[in-house]
Amino acid sequence: MAGALIVVDRVSKRYTTRSGVVEALRDVSLGVSEGEFCTIIGPSGCGKSTLLAMIGGLATPDDGHISVDGAAVDGPDPTRVATVFQDPGLFPWRTALENVEFGLELQGTPRAERRRIASDLLGPLGLRPFAAKYPRELSGGMRQRVAIARALALDTKIVLMDEPFGALDEQTRVLMGEWLLEIWRRTRKTVIFVTHSLQEAVSLSTRVAVMTARPGRVKLVLDLPMDYPRAIESPEIVALRAKLWGEIREESLRAIAEST
Ligand SMILES: Nc1ncnc2c1ncn2[C@@H]1O[C@H](COP(=O)(O)OP(=O)(O)O)[C@@H](O)[C@H]1O
Ligand SMILES: [Mg+2]
Repeated sequence: MAGALIVVDRVSKRYTTRSGVVEALRDVSLGVSEGEFCTIIGPSGCGKSTLLAMIGGLATPDDGHISVDGAAVDGPDPTRVATVFQDPGLFPWRTALENVEFGLELQGTPRAERRRIASDLLGPLGLRPFAAKYPRELSGGMRQRVAIARALALDTKIVLMDEPFGALDEQTRVLMGEWLLEIWRRTRKTVIFVTHSLQEAVSLSTRVAVMTARPGRVKLVLDLPMDYPRAIESPEIVALRAKLWGEIREESLRAIAEST
């Protein structure tokens, strides 16, 4: 883990609420190397979003340390880490293209270059015809694709994606996954990706970390050295998915038992 681009070292996190203390994460360690596509799966409420928020500098661990690129994380750093959430969070008064350009504007990228980068990202997403539309004129799936393009436009080494396709229909999700894979292979960004979809996990990841029910711990980490694009019906992938499902099923049952 030492030398990894992202190092999560024995991190714990608790939330104090009116009804008591919620232990979200306990003693979580994870190292993610440069260029990896690391997927995190685990039952709802196990602390996946909390973990990403801490890596992105939006929350602070109670115990343990997180470092990115050799430096301790002490707040959001948009030059190193871009984030995509399930909610696209677009500016309603900006067009799709202007939303994609937003971060570049903050970074002071000249207008023509901004336009070029943003337009190049819209094309493969099927968004070019919608470049001049406002968020209210776009479908949910299109809005999310704009949000992903906006994060990628920043050209950070690291992209954190928290259930980015969670609100999309199944077919759109598969296409989005193919497109993301293509971008990732081209740019070699380091991605941490949270999903509930085992299909996404096995087709996209170089590694999958499975988390336990709350308090979230890393239950196991699987390496996926297979080539891309992956034949999802191959025996190897089918077996891997079955293995992941066995682990997740156990934790999800535990999470449900504890919440009732
Ligand atoms: N700001 C917060 N205040 C209090 N509790 C929180 C807060 N954020 C998350 N939690 C709780 O911490 C646990 C982990 O949440 P979260 O990280 O969102 O899990 P996941 O993304 O895996 O569903 C949950 O029980 C959630 O209710
Ligand atoms: Mg979450």
